[in-house]
Amino acid sequence: MFDIIVKGGTLPDGRIADIGIEAGRIKAIGALNAEAGEVIDAAGDLVAPPFVDPHFHLDATQSYGRPRINQSGTLLEGIGLWGELKQVMTEDDMINRALTYCDWAASMGLLAIRSHVDTCDDTLKGVRAMLEVREQVKGYVDLQLVAFPQDGLYRDPTARANTIRALDMGIDVVGGIPHFERTMADGAASVRDLCEIAAERGLRVDMHCDETDDPLSRHIETLSFEAQRLGMQGRVNGSHLTSMHSMDNYYVSKLLPLIAEAGVSATPNPLINVMIQGRHDTFPKRRGLTRVKEMQAHGITVGWGQDCVLDPWYPLGTADMLDVAFMGLHVAQMSSPEEMARCFDMVTHQNAAIMGLEDYGLRVGATASLIILDAASPIEALRLRAARLCVISKGRVISRTPRMDTALTLPGRPQTIRRRHKAA
Ligand code: FE2
Repeated sequence: MFDIIVKGGTLPDGRIADIGIEAGRIKAIGALNAEAGEVIDAAGDLVAPPFVDPHFHLDATQSYGRPRINQSGTLLEGIGLWGELKQVMTEDDMINRALTYCDWAASMGLLAIRSHVDTCDDTLKGVRAMLEVREQVKGYVDLQLVAFPQDGLYRDPTARANTIRALDMGIDVVGGIPHFERTMADGAASVRDLCEIAAERGLRVDMHCDETDDPLSRHIETLSFEAQRLGMQGRVNGSHLTSMHSMDNYYVSKLLPLIAEAGVSATPNPLINVMIQGRHDTFPKRRGLTRVKEMQAHGITVGWGQDCVLDPWYPLGTADMLDVAFMGLHVAQMSSPEEMARCFDMVTHQNAAIMGLEDYGLRVGATASLIILDAASPIEALRLRAARLCVISKGRVISRTPRMDTALTLPGRPQTIRRRHKAA
């Protein structure tokens, strides 16, 4: 007797199988002829593990337009606007906006999020707010919080002390922003300092790293070197790495093996990278996305992150990791069938690996979290940005969405109902 059987769905690898869920865990995968409290028919639909976002800013989400719109569209104007906003924003406001985003995430099958939390505020109200949100949503969305000295570990006079206070309060991961320090030397020193703080506490590291078009911004080199020196292989992630887009090719040929040997993963954020980078260019205008396929060819784990939704840096977004993967697929030109399928894997398994989620995946014994999509395969899910028909989190159905059917009434033809944009 299972609590739930998801019947006849197509798994991402193409197998058709039933999935039996009991007491919050996946108990069986295969052809199941057993009783269940609920049987969910998934025949013809894709059944996948939930989406994971390894890079987001929950403290800033849904603040778009406050105190005003980012006119230049640059990272720096966004940081300036956020600097004004966080002074006046209340803790309750931050909690409410983040909880609304978590509702959106749940409905989209996005069930694990790593969120950076600004620690450059002496009151640390954002840290308290996000710790409260992590507690409130833990029954359905796993939040991993990163202590993020937004204004620079050294550039902001109290950032280092506040970052350590935030870690003492229970923040999970150590963050940084070396390209925003005043000098390259300070940036490198901040990377070393933060990696040592993380190593001492046994924490993971995830830094905003080289989020610039400057080809000489090379903090990923220091981050990788420190990860290796401190024995932190598999526990360090570099987010953005946009400067790599513009780097000298010979230098990159030396850099990629270092990143691979150091076991450092990478999280480009394609929606935000193409929106923000290249703003100082005329034409040709750089896309700013890092070298995704090239890193993967070296065995480096690369995911896709969302980064922003409706905040000082990005005016759009819906918590849909299929949108993120769809943009990444285009900008990185990952158009072969294997590469397109890999883009789906990046927003599921690869992102889970970056976050270190151990109970993740469609396998017996894993946490029973999965999504049923109105698509026949991962590639079709990307093409359609398919509806999440059903979302199961930790053994419970938490969201259902109807199929997107369209009634066509065309001249000279009888009315037809079509599954939206499904191939014939
Ligand atoms: Fe970010």
